[in-house]
Amino acid sequence: MFYQKFILVLIAGFLSLSLGAQSREPIVIQTQHTSLVLKAGKNGRLYQSYLGERLIDNADNGKLPQGQEAYITGGMEDQFQPAIRITHTDGNPSLELIYDGIQVLKPAPDISETVISLKDPKYNILVKLHYQAFIHDDVIKAWTEIENHEKGEVVLQDYASSMLNFNADEYWLTQFHGDWAAEMKMQVSKLTSGIKEIDSKLGTRAAMYQSPLFLLSLNKNADETTGEVIAGTLAWTGNFRFHFELDNNNALRVISGINPYASAYKLASGKTFTTPAFIFTYSAHGRGQASRNLHKWARTNAVLDGNGARLVLLNNWETTNMHFDEQKLVSMFSDVNKIGADLFLLDDGWFGNKYPRSSDNAGLGDWQPTQNKLPHGIGFLIKQAEKQGTKFGIWMEPEMVNPKSELYEKHPDWILKLPNRAENLYRNQLVLDLTNPKVNAFVFSTMNKLISDNPGLAFIKWDCNRLMSNTWSPYLRDKQSNLYVDYVLSLYDIFKRLRRKHPNLPMMLCSGGGARIDYEALKYFTEFWPSDDTDPLERVYMQWGYSLFYPSVAVASHVTSWGKQSLKFRTDIAMMGKLGYDIDVSKMTANEITFSKQAVDNYKRLSAVIWRGDLYRLASPYEENRAVLMYVDSLKSKAVLFNYNLNVRERELMNRIKLQGLDPQKHYVVKEINLMPGAQPILPGNGGTYSGDILMKLGLDLNGWHLKSLTSSVIEITAI
Ligand code: DGJ
Repeated sequence: MFYQKFILVLIAGFLSLSLGAQSREPIVIQTQHTSLVLKAGKNGRLYQSYLGERLIDNADNGKLPQGQEAYITGGMEDQFQPAIRITHTDGNPSLELIYDGIQVLKPAPDISETVISLKDPKYNILVKLHYQAFIHDDVIKAWTEIENHEKGEVVLQDYASSMLNFNADEYWLTQFHGDWAAEMKMQVSKLTSGIKEIDSKLGTRAAMYQSPLFLLSLNKNADETTGEVIAGTLAWTGNFRFHFELDNNNALRVISGINPYASAYKLASGKTFTTPAFIFTYSAHGRGQASRNLHKWARTNAVLDGNGARLVLLNNWETTNMHFDEQKLVSMFSDVNKIGADLFLLDDGWFGNKYPRSSDNAGLGDWQPTQNKLPHGIGFLIKQAEKQGTKFGIWMEPEMVNPKSELYEKHPDWILKLPNRAENLYRNQLVLDLTNPKVNAFVFSTMNKLISDNPGLAFIKWDCNRLMSNTWSPYLRDKQSNLYVDYVLSLYDIFKRLRRKHPNLPMMLCSGGGARIDYEALKYFTEFWPSDDTDPLERVYMQWGYSLFYPSVAVASHVTSWGKQSLKFRTDIAMMGKLGYDIDVSKMTANEITFSKQAVDNYKRLSAVIWRGDLYRLASPYEENRAVLMYVDSLKSKAVLFNYNLNVRERELMNRIKLQGLDPQKHYVVKEINLMPGAQPILPGNGGTYSGDILMKLGLDLNGWHLKSLTSSVIEITAI
């Protein structure tokens, strides 16, 4: 039976390949609402004929103009930026790619994968363009395989994941930039002729200045509900590059992939290079739909346990920094219960003996608990936490080392550093050379041992506090230009092996705030830390930005003491994401504890809607002195609306807000929740019942006479 099946698959594969090689039929990659149509031209090259709203009549796919070449090669007649450029074994720097067949696979009922093979007629290089269409999520994942069948090594100079072509009147780019404590700042600009690039050369903490994602609006700058827009992101935890080139015909090419900067990749004979995936969604109805597509797709296909539950954490970083001991920690465990949270997260500062970690200048690399701080070790802390009904989690930064550490003393050759140059410290630390298999084994076994030796451990925060500089691997010798890529591949190898052993342990992806967030890393992580800046006013903008691409279940949002706003304001803002705390509970008043406990109860009651509901952004903080958004469950029976008034002017007028995503036929009770003990709601007509129709056509006045700066409300909307 198995053999029969195997032979059938082989025959099918062969048939499709041989038929495809002769065929000039359109290659249609489509989701529920999107079509991407490619076609081999008479000259054998591959062209992109169409990308946009799904064409209803299949016959129309055959009537499309040829379009632009789909995956431009370097060294031939095209003078714009190529998607791929190779130096062959004999030194020839050109590549020609001719259509060689197509295979259509069905990896899952809702996914169809088209693989287009392209071949150089003279050199033994095979390129396979993969397009995975997630039909109901309207998401396409594109990546490339480059096979070297030449006799010797070739050098990949450019190796894009994807190239897309557009023909519109105008192109508007939305990008996200930042720095430590200032992540995810949104910037919109109209593309002008020539080149615009968004990239990173930072290596490990790769997304510190630019995030690996963008929105591209066609013809006009799309808003939440109107306009054509592509939301794209690269699933790569390292240097990335998005290259936008507007040519002489006002056509735009978008090339996405690993940044080839200092990364001409040496590919041995017989080897295949697989690029990371470029993930994109197209919406003809504005950004809101694009985000909902990505959220839905990511929960099932990209974020680990994306449809599962999450724990409410109490972290100690903001309260104790590295200054704690066993007694202090044990005394804090009861705080978790006081506010109704689930887990105590012990942050940085618990390890190192010869060089104890009492500040950031020592200890990284020596992952043993500091004897005089934690004499009974981690297991004891886990037990003490459990005794108090709390789970326990821990912080790690396993890719790094302080020169003041036993690890550094033992293995000075395990560190990335240039010969003949001084060490370049950043936060007093250096990056371990993950390209070295011994270092890979050390990082894996450190993590694996910590988790295996402590079966009660319920959470890991994986941090990465520096970028690469002075970048040189003592291990790679004459393959230095493979370093940036091989580092990331080694990191994935560690993640993969850890997940095989510990598939369900919740882990937070952190990088000195939010400098390492992408959909490849998130396959192994349940949430990410968006920023060390938890001032709620700043978080409104950041979380707004992240919400464009990432589902709320993954966006860790903590209530802390940053900012001078009320605890209610801070809590309401954290509740739009994955709620947690990093606050000194012992300094909270009785009212604040009562409020927090109630807020956590509300959050847990509504978390299914917040995590898995459809997000509608109703008023943008970039356009108004407020931010309003809501989540609606799939049955349209429950919704939660978050209303944040920012720095409002005296007697500023705020329009009613038209709700979205409700059922016009249903009736809903609209009730403000999350009130401080004794406080009055600010929602006029609180507790009233309205039809979904009127809530969406006339909307709600959210503040009435109560409008004030830095106030907020959370509104529960329940169908009756
Ligand atoms: C940076 C993280 O973003 C913080 O939350 C904290 O874990 C520190 N590192 C600890 O060094």
